[in-house]
Amino acid sequence: MKRMLSGIKPTGQLHLGNYIGALRHFVEYQDEYEMFAFIANLHCITVPQDPKELQQNLRDCVALYLACGLDPDRANIFLQTDVRAHAQLGYIMCCHTYMGELNRMTQFKDKMAHGEKNLSGGLYTYPSLMAADILLYDPDYVPVGEDQKQHVELTRDLAIRMNNRYGELFHVPEPLVAKVGARIMSLSDPSKKMSKSDETNKGCIYLLDDLKAARKKVMSAVTDNCAKVHFDPENQPGISNLMQILSSLSDERPMADIEAEFEGRGYGDFKRSVADAVCAKLEDIQNRYNEVLSSGAIDRALEKGAQRASVLADEKLAKVQKAIGMEIITK
Ligand code: TYM
Repeated sequence: MKRMLSGIKPTGQLHLGNYIGALRHFVEYQDEYEMFAFIANLHCITVPQDPKELQQNLRDCVALYLACGLDPDRANIFLQTDVRAHAQLGYIMCCHTYMGELNRMTQFKDKMAHGEKNLSGGLYTYPSLMAADILLYDPDYVPVGEDQKQHVELTRDLAIRMNNRYGELFHVPEPLVAKVGARIMSLSDPSKKMSKSDETNKGCIYLLDDLKAARKKVMSAVTDNCAKVHFDPENQPGISNLMQILSSLSDERPMADIEAEFEGRGYGDFKRSVADAVCAKLEDIQNRYNEVLSSGAIDRALEKGAQRASVLADEKLAKVQKAIGMEIITK
């Protein structure tokens, strides 16, 4: 069975972009692949965190994994720090990453360009840790949204570099970026990605948003004055974004189909249909989230997932350390 791995970094609440770009694919693939889905808590602390809020966000993230349909009997769900090999291989990967490569990573470059102060060393080197997260498990595919593709490409480069230097250590994975929904944009500014760090809180729909608030966000989404529901991300970014959301939430409905349904109809009608689809999905997720919270399923899932993940990760770390010549007593 081929293997897949991915993770989410809950520095805030999970949002619709995380669901459409990543989480729904974890669920979709859990039968076809051996799935590893983890919660990237080491990545969370690359930016300042309030400890209580962080703990709540981590718990919510697991609860949402389960509420969205990941099944601990079919997928391995675990917390990154429960498998210590992540931090250890992360350091080794960091020593094999060039500063020039890290300088080219757009996420860090963007933060620098915005003049953000006191950025941490962890934030700078986090693509190396992400490479370790992936390579520990030799996955065939890494399902991610568009913004993480560059990091998976760096992971491939590092795997090839180390394989060339030390002999075959890692399987070289491929990013899996869906055609539709890999980059959901902010509802209030469709030139920006929907993100946890949305300052206005109008452009981002959180999976745990109150349904009325979510509906309002969709109804007030920025559109254009072309008066035509047409898929054209360049000239109609707001409408095209809403179409991507609708398509992703309705079994990848073709864009032509959506265009035909709304031909000659106003944006109000169209937005109502998008809001209905979003609210139906949120309601379903939130109902299951509440069940999960009171069921004890979170702890059970994490324990089981970490056990399975540790076996593979420890074995890989030992192999790498040995190949590099770091061990005295061979394990
Ligand atoms: P993170 O937490 O920023 O995002 C988690 C996943 O959600 C996708 N995503 C989006 N997809 C579509 N539209 C959006 N607006 C949107 N925003 C986020 C992301 O592409 C991602 O797939 N570094 C990673 C976490 C990570 C990881 C890994 C992922 C750590 N180690 C190893 C895969 C493999 C991150 O910060 O994702």
